[in-house]
Amino acid sequence: MAKQEFQFSYESYKSIDELKKDDASLLEEARKVTQQAYAPYSHFNVAAVAKLINGEKVVGTNQENASYPVGLCAERVLLSAISSVFPNTAIDTLAISYHNLNGDSSKPVSPCGMCRQALLEYEDRTKKPIRIILSGMSGEVVIIEKAAQLLPLSFGGENLK
Ligand code: THU
Repeated sequence: MAKQEFQFSYESYKSIDELKKDDASLLEEARKVTQQAYAPYSHFNVAAVAKLINGEKVVGTNQENASYPVGLCAERVLLSAISSVFPNTAIDTLAISYHNLNGDSSKPVSPCGMCRQALLEYEDRTKKPIRIILSGMSGEVVIIEKAAQLLPLSFGGENLK
């Protein structure tokens, strides 16, 4: 038997004021774009804004439905949009923010399991790590180097060969 270990470190900032200019403006945009979410059931508005390597920015927001499982997370809406408009274009940095209309929005939340899987596929496919900035409407900001760190022991296309 061998014990294996998974470890990763990430950056944590007290607020947006500590970020570099480009990161701060991407996060600022994500915070603003939470207003464009369609979340009449959860009242939990999520926005994801990607800066692509071609310099373009693409946004996504969560899109809910009265038939709850039909709803989509902001991250997967975003990845589908990027893949449709700028196929095979790598993401440099992704900022994810949320506005919880029923509560607190001052702590970062990180992508759900399904979105982690989708982010990983995008990262693998474009062969470029996606830097991920996480924060609510205020307060702490977390920066993760790549999506793969959010999904250890993952399943991917390689496994299907
Ligand atoms: N949501 C996202 O958009 N991204 C996540 O990573 C977590 C959850 C959305 C789905 C649903 O519309 C609402 O947040 C509450 O779960």
